[in-house]
Amino acid sequence: MCGIIGINSNKPVATTIINSLKKLEYRGYDSAGIATLYNGLINEVKSEGRVENLEKNSIAQNMEGTIGIGHVRWATHGLPNSINAHPHSSQNVSVVHNGIIENSTILKKFLIGKGHVFKSQTDTEVIAHLITENLKTENIINSIKKTLKSLHGSFALGIVFKDHPDFIVGARRGSPLAVGYGPNENYLGSDSYALKSMTNKITYLNDGEFCVIKRNNVDFFSEEGTRINKKVLVLSSTEEKYDKGDYKHFMAKEIEEQPITISNGINEYIDMSNRDINIYNFPWKKKEISSITLIGCGTAYHSCLMAKYWFEKLTNLDVNIDIASEFRYRKNRFKQDNLYIFVSQSGETADTYAALDLCKNNNVKTCAVVNVVESSIARDSNFVLPIHCGVEIGVASTKAFLGQILILYILALKFALWRKEIEKKDFDKKLSELKTLPKLLEKTLLVDNKIQTIADTFNEAKGSMFLGRGFSYPIALEGALKLKELSYIHAEGYPAGEMKHGPLALIEEGMPVVVLAPRDSYYKKTISNMQEVIARGAKVLLITNKSKDEVISENIWKKIEVESTNEDLLPFLLTIPLQKLAYYSALKKGYDIDKPRNLAKSVTVE
Ligand code: M6R
Repeated sequence: MCGIIGINSNKPVATTIINSLKKLEYRGYDSAGIATLYNGLINEVKSEGRVENLEKNSIAQNMEGTIGIGHVRWATHGLPNSINAHPHSSQNVSVVHNGIIENSTILKKFLIGKGHVFKSQTDTEVIAHLITENLKTENIINSIKKTLKSLHGSFALGIVFKDHPDFIVGARRGSPLAVGYGPNENYLGSDSYALKSMTNKITYLNDGEFCVIKRNNVDFFSEEGTRINKKVLVLSSTEEKYDKGDYKHFMAKEIEEQPITISNGINEYIDMSNRDINIYNFPWKKKEISSITLIGCGTAYHSCLMAKYWFEKLTNLDVNIDIASEFRYRKNRFKQDNLYIFVSQSGETADTYAALDLCKNNNVKTCAVVNVVESSIARDSNFVLPIHCGVEIGVASTKAFLGQILILYILALKFALWRKEIEKKDFDKKLSELKTLPKLLEKTLLVDNKIQTIADTFNEAKGSMFLGRGFSYPIALEGALKLKELSYIHAEGYPAGEMKHGPLALIEEGMPVVVLAPRDSYYKKTISNMQEVIARGAKVLLITNKSKDEVISENIWKKIEVESTNEDLLPFLLTIPLQKLAYYSALKKGYDIDKPRNLAKSVTVE
């Protein structure tokens, strides 16, 4: 999604801004732009498509100015073209914006009435003109305050002023924003990752706050315009190096990395010498929690669903799950003895953050399961369980999914032990089995060749289905999401037992159907459902685990066998062939695997 960079320095900033915008490319975007102040003018260059296009632009290459703002845009209002790309400028103000201004139409009408002329179809352009309008009667701070008050919706803003070439203004409501500190220069960024190549000293703005970034100091203000002091955080490392290595795509690398990332997660939480799970400083007593609600979006929601099966199996806790965009607008009954768990790779997903915010306002217990530990969701939760996966660049979440379900499984085991709902010997056995998971993943990753040919059939089909029961049902949903997200093939995930209640009507001769039927407690039931779809002409790709017993069913089109382990852990292994199916299917179609169309890595607008 959209990303912001601002630099106020004593040397030219254009190249550094463009390089920093490249760090934000992983978020997904469709155009990019930059504005600097030089010689009493706002210089602006924008381009459709990649940051590379901006970089090649000769005007951008020769851009002067020691103060500037840059942006990558993911279209919400108006087409993804260079006119709608940010920055948007009036005669004296230039703005970059993440978020959505909900009352932009009314504001635009008002400003047109005042004689302002608009160039783009965006909601952002009204911000520049509104500041210009307010500057006619107010000083800088008051005009910012007044403008922010008039805006409905969410925003993170970077603003420069033609007549004040010594500072950048940053402002936040709803969308994250960070300030960074360097030698003789200071920065603004939509996340700390974008600033990491320049600094590890960061201050995060809270909702409603704004700041004035000068070269040698930064002033922070509350919503009311009162000066406030903010903490400077020193992040762990200046920059985490992450590249594709020998892989064609980040996604391919991230799939193959899973044995390592899972091993990291296990090593962080499991203490084999004491046969225990280390969750330090958990802030609540076990008696204080009698139910759990897990909340997320997309793949993270599938992790929540997966966790429900494990928590219900291993503990007696009541477990609810929710899609964040639904939770945030429903009438919820907040309970003091409920633990609200927010699952998010980025920790910046707008809907998940809003759901967390709602819980915070209702003073209930909140816990974040995140990859990015400096993220808003991590910072604003009572307790954080990091998934320790390292940077995930591919828009399609792979290693973060396995990382999330790993930590949620570990948490379910820990609760079961705390609550004495699992025998210690069974707990020990499960820990030992968990320790073998990285090796099993490594072996399962060898299924490659088979899947490459299978992908062709999916690519030729009108649509496909992914079926599973019990522990395999969340994985079926995740497999279908991966395929549609990357290959733009219609794919639906269903509980296998639901087929007769409607979806069976979709099955026709030759339709590819993935059936997840590992040898677990649901096996026989799933095999019956599989036979029903085969009987109606489906081409079934059966994914099961290795066993000495043959699968008793005729006319299975293809079969993939993952390694064998206890039924709790099979979902990890079943995920691998599905990730690869989606990857090869998109590869064969020649699609942009790491940045699928219309999607963004970090969904910072609702
Ligand atoms: O960063 P988050 O985990 O909060 O993101 C949630 C979803 O946007 C994300 O999982 C999305 O569904 C993935 N692109 C799926 O691969």
